[in-house]
Amino acid sequence: MRIITSPAEMTAWAREQQSDGHSLALVPTMGYFHKGHLALMLMAADKVDKVVVSLFVNPIQFGPGEDLDQYPVDPARDEELARSQGVSVLFMPTREDMYPPGFQTVVSVPELSRHLCGADRPGHFNGVTTVVCKLLHIVRPDCAVFGEKDFQQLAVIRRMVADLNMDVEILAHPIVREPDGLAMSSRNSYLGSEERQQALCLSRSIAHARSLYATGVRDTTRLAEEVRDIIKKVTGAHIQYISFFNRTTLESVNQTDENTQMALAVTIGGRVRLIDNGRLVEAG
Ligand code: PAF
Repeated sequence: MRIITSPAEMTAWAREQQSDGHSLALVPTMGYFHKGHLALMLMAADKVDKVVVSLFVNPIQFGPGEDLDQYPVDPARDEELARSQGVSVLFMPTREDMYPPGFQTVVSVPELSRHLCGADRPGHFNGVTTVVCKLLHIVRPDCAVFGEKDFQQLAVIRRMVADLNMDVEILAHPIVREPDGLAMSSRNSYLGSEERQQALCLSRSIAHARSLYATGVRDTTRLAEEVRDIIKKVTGAHIQYISFFNRTTLESVNQTDENTQMALAVTIGGRVRLIDNGRLVEAG
């Protein structure tokens, strides 16, 4: 596995591979790999000849007071894990490489970005789309893989790719969960053991909404109330949002149907913001 830090070198490597007839996938990450990241790498490897994983903690997607300075990093472990998945290149640019002096372009998908997490984290999705657009231009992969845990991020990126006629296939990997249901996230490493238990209220809420849906409950005010009751009982858990929305437009809905997705953001212990989502009807 090669480690590349320079965007120019990354582009040169990718062009060389493509001129030799190899297909490429990009897995954009912020590192601190867990099984969810490894699953994205495996999905990519199944699809193409060479997998590039980018590892870049993107400062412009963090707002003031968010966890940029505490974001967990362990590049040596990440390197080992990426190597174990047969990754061809680990691309680790510096902040200066990605945002040199004078950088000012912003890629924005305003309508999809204003819902859900966008309402609590102004500017977050502009940071995501800008960096993902840059990474896609640097590597120009045949496909790029993202996790469904960040459901809104995926929708925003798909929109950007369609709107800007970017020649890349966006693949989505289902949420990877711990055996007890907690969605895997690098931010889970912030949780103490009691908080780790409290964090289960997110996946429990989705399971509860699903079972209510299965018994015929369609009214989202009622569903949200039931979910709120579950979370309110958990010490230290604070709801940022609970939303039932259309999977394509991300607009909230009053009555659920087979296209309804549920998502929620909850802070645990007053500091750790976790998100989770699920479809009320399991796909398939
Ligand atoms: O999902 C993430 O880890 C990040 O938002 C991404 C897509 C790597 C952009 O920084």
